[in-house]
Amino acid sequence: MRIIIIGAGGRLGAALAREYATTFDVRAYTHADVDLTDLDRIRELLRPLDFDLLVNSAALTNVDYCEDHRDEAFMINTEAPRVLAGLCHEKNAKLIQISTDYVFDGKARIPYQEEDEATPLSVYGESKREGELRVLGASERHLVARISWVFGPDRPSFVDQVIQRARQTSHVAAVTDKFSTPTYTLDLAWWLRAAWEKHLSGLLHLTNAGECSWQQYAQYAIDCCHQHGLALQAKRVEELKLSDMKNLIAQRPVYSVLSTATFSHRTGVEPRNWREAVAEYIKTHVIKR
Ligand SMILES: NC(=O)c1ccc[n+]([C@@H]2O[C@H](COP(=O)([O-])OP(=O)(O)OC[C@H]3O[C@@H](n4cnc5c(N)ncnc54)[C@H](OP(=O)(O)O)[C@@H]3O)[C@@H](O)[C@H]2O)c1
Repeated sequence: MRIIIIGAGGRLGAALAREYATTFDVRAYTHADVDLTDLDRIRELLRPLDFDLLVNSAALTNVDYCEDHRDEAFMINTEAPRVLAGLCHEKNAKLIQISTDYVFDGKARIPYQEEDEATPLSVYGESKREGELRVLGASERHLVARISWVFGPDRPSFVDQVIQRARQTSHVAAVTDKFSTPTYTLDLAWWLRAAWEKHLSGLLHLTNAGECSWQQYAQYAIDCCHQHGLALQAKRVEELKLSDMKNLIAQRPVYSVLSTATFSHRTGVEPRNWREAVAEYIKTHVIKR
């Protein structure tokens, strides 16, 4: 099986490229190889290639930057996926487009199902939602996987920033009134594989199980580090309100937990709880660093 990964310099794309290269014929492209604002370059790169599956994890992911750069956000998160979806369709290949929990407005208090209405609050969310629609409209074979709060060994994320801060100072704080679920890149690599092996298409939610606030996530990470004897100055993560985060520009959903029931039902795979995944990540990739 020949797989193309776009976004291979990113947190998720790098993990997928490495994991799949052990079993499949993988070509991985970073931002330096292809800039998604250049639609002709995308066509020039991909038209000569033969492949069965393309995973697009590249995106303009800085939510606040997107708010002030609407055209760029729509070019990278909507137009580029549209072109990728068309090219894949021409080649009878499947596209897996990675999307986000930020397509929801966060008014729910029970996990979002795939069929729930998506009403994004931010330019980032809008551009990703439009990207989903372009991909799904191009072929019934394509898959859009919505994920949330990504962490993994290939690029620092929230959990690494918290641990870094706790090494340097005893004062660490995180938001208590915003909820979702962390998603471990190495777990996601397996779930995506299970999804394409079962020929899943359309919309799919894929995250670890359970839910937490940023504060609970940060506190659990610090507890794990202490258990492993890592020298941290901070023990307690202090509580902040989302409204205290004055530097945030874009509006964010306060509750964006995604139900993975469809995935489990269709594949028989139950994602493990986020605590188990975070504990393994810290033991394997943070303590040994
Ligand atoms: N991170 C999260 O918590 C989160 C949550 C929900 C959904 N997602 C989705 O998950 C996917 C992967 O995210 P991630 O966490 O791996 O983010 P990431 O580390 O920011 O990776 C995104 C990649 O896209 C690349 N990129 C940005 N602009 C580009 C352009 N114009 N042309 C080509 N490549 C470009 C970036 O390259 P440079 O760094 O060189 O610009 C980077 O390698 C994205 O689709 C994102 O929307 C992420």
